[in-house]
Amino acid sequence: MADVKTLNTAPGFSTISDKEIFEFEHKHGAHHYGRLDVVVRRAEGVWLHTQDGNKYLDCLAAYSAANQGHCHPNIARALVEALQNQYASVISNVVYTDSLALFLKKLSTLVPQMAPKLGANGNKVLPKNGGVESVETAIKTARAWGYMKKGIEDGKQEIIVFRNNFHGRTLLAVSVSSTEKYKKGFGPMVPGFVDVDFGDLEAVKAVINKNTCGILVEPMQGEGGMYQPPDGFRKGLRDVADENNLMLIFDEIQVGLGRTGKMFCFEHENVVPDGIVLGKALSGGMVPLSCFVTNTEIMDAVFQPGRDGSTFGGYPLACIAGNAALDVLVDEDLAGRSTKMGAILHKKIDEIAARSSHVKEVRGRGLFIGIEVKNGDAMSFCSKLLKLGLLANDSHGHTIRISPPLILDEENIDYIVERLEKVLVD
Ligand SMILES: Cc1ncc(COP(=O)(O)O)c(C=O)c1O
Repeated sequence: MADVKTLNTAPGFSTISDKEIFEFEHKHGAHHYGRLDVVVRRAEGVWLHTQDGNKYLDCLAAYSAANQGHCHPNIARALVEALQNQYASVISNVVYTDSLALFLKKLSTLVPQMAPKLGANGNKVLPKNGGVESVETAIKTARAWGYMKKGIEDGKQEIIVFRNNFHGRTLLAVSVSSTEKYKKGFGPMVPGFVDVDFGDLEAVKAVINKNTCGILVEPMQGEGGMYQPPDGFRKGLRDVADENNLMLIFDEIQVGLGRTGKMFCFEHENVVPDGIVLGKALSGGMVPLSCFVTNTEIMDAVFQPGRDGSTFGGYPLACIAGNAALDVLVDEDLAGRSTKMGAILHKKIDEIAARSSHVKEVRGRGLFIGIEVKNGDAMSFCSKLLKLGLLANDSHGHTIRISPPLILDEENIDYIVERLEKVLVD
């Protein structure tokens, strides 16, 4: 361990050089990410700092995990206090903890009543770690619901999903995916899914059969290119789900928790799903925390002791972060801020697009803005932005993703716009 020098010479955890960091990672880590050549040593608010004193405005916000801004002081304080006061260790799930109880109460009441057709008997929350685990919980729930309530033969359940979706990287989640790169060589894939084009309601209706138990959809696609579905699509899904007794599940891991200008993206169309998956900003991006939330009736029907579990799912440190992170979202009205700042930024980006020969389309809602470029190579523009002190990456290759922390202010907007202007307008 002699080569890890953990001296407190800020910024950073260690004094090892950037060159050593590249070397260590390349030599000792799996190469499953194509990283940008930047070592971030400190993250605060909307800014990422390097050891040589450079800083980058973070327009990625860890794909919406840092909605509250990096190292939000309230969340950081809650975590530090929990660690210093012995509240934070992973405690076996065979006992109760106050942190979990408080978090469950807070989240289940923050989320509007799921599956209201089953009664206003409250929501229940099943906590996990990374987002994909809660996607799996949602899929398990829809399958079990179909088996128990619709009489579908176990093993025959089908769930409708959408092309270009992104629900994570476990074998189940890549089985749901239409992206070849995610799947090739990892077979056999998990059966039980049928995919149709995002936004195509008629295609959804056409694939429903006696074994269909649910629909899993991102209310706006994130990784798939930052697309909003056509107006009325989500409402149409709701109607189809009601007519055919299907569970409608929204994966709001990337677009929920204020990102698009509402606490939950489904609120834009006032379409309430039967279940929702949340993650990322649920803990303010501090520790992995995700949840599946559904109506009490559904949760109780599907899960009894022994039917699910996770060592770290709902452990105290995560719940303490979750409690503080939800408070920050509500107290600082970050959804409202996303609407306000998103409208200003979107307008300015539209103005740049009108003068740019590179921009094909600007789309999005709140602080979830995609700039699709004509040459299909968003990363070529992101590399230039990086040199100007702005971190962004692509969505689906062709779209520059602008999704900064929701605490963004107008000065930050000017900073972003100035750099986009330089890169997009010749
Ligand atoms: C919509 C959506 N679902 C699921 C996931 C997977 O979450 P995680 O990477 O935390 O497992 C992501 C991650 O980007 C996502 O955007």
